[in-house]
Amino acid sequence: MAVRVLCDAGEGLELRTLHRGLAARIFQVVDAEREHLGRWLPWVQHTQGLPDTVKFLQNARDVFLHGDGIHGAVWDRDEFVGMMALRVVSKADKVGNVGYWLSHRAQGRGIITRLMRVFLTYCFEEWKLHRLELRCAASNERSCRVAERIGFQYEGLLRGANLVQGQHLDMRLYSLLAPEWQAFRAGQAIHAGQADAGRSPSRSASGVPSLKSASR
Ligand SMILES: CC(C)(COP(=O)(O)OP(=O)(O)OC[C@H]1O[C@@H](n2cnc3c(N)ncnc32)[C@H](O)[C@@H]1OP(=O)(O)O)[C@@H](O)C(=O)NCCC(=O)NCCS
Repeated sequence: MAVRVLCDAGEGLELRTLHRGLAARIFQVVDAEREHLGRWLPWVQHTQGLPDTVKFLQNARDVFLHGDGIHGAVWDRDEFVGMMALRVVSKADKVGNVGYWLSHRAQGRGIITRLMRVFLTYCFEEWKLHRLELRCAASNERSCRVAERIGFQYEGLLRGANLVQGQHLDMRLYSLLAPEWQAFRAGQAIHAGQADAGRSPSRSASGVPSLKSASR
């Protein structure tokens, strides 16, 4: 299956569809960064070999084919640096859940913040959702900062809701509604003066590119 660009945040930062050929690269990053990722993501300890990542990719494909969500690979120019995902929690209620992770080496440059801004528009518009949820461990300050920076509202604490490395972590529940996102984007546009400045011509007014083939 051809690789497609799902979201284009500009300056070579893209969310692209997954493919089987990426399995070794994904596993390599996860395996090398167990300490960084495994602290917050429960699936890391269950990813012990390449076949686990191959199985994950098959699963992600099934999820997409059933209309239950999508996983994308984060590419910073020509480097695979992380992942971003949408899982539809309730089709009837139009509710989804978003998540992300980034290689340690790519942190602190605004990659997730910039790409999430485009991904949220993609989730609301392409998947026609009304509510997106984001759960972060209360102790995961970096991730909580991302959620708040991109306009999510804090709703409450889910006590002991995630079992990670034998610890029951309290999770902060955030949400964002479609009209709030529109207002947030409009506010950002006003503050930025020219929110669209620097966008590549290939991008639509929503910031989400029309699906196109990527170079890899
Ligand atoms: C959570 C995680 C994705 C955050 O990565 P990150 O690089 O800090 O996040 P961003 O890409 O949004 O970058 C924000 C940082 O870059 C800096 N930055 C630089 N340029 C920026 C820009 N143009 N826009 C926004 N931030 C920018 C910010 O100051 C910010 O630093 P701070 O965290 O010290 O305040 C990453 O730490 C991670 O993957 N952790 C392990 C897995 C994980 O926790 N996943 C989430 C589970 S809920």
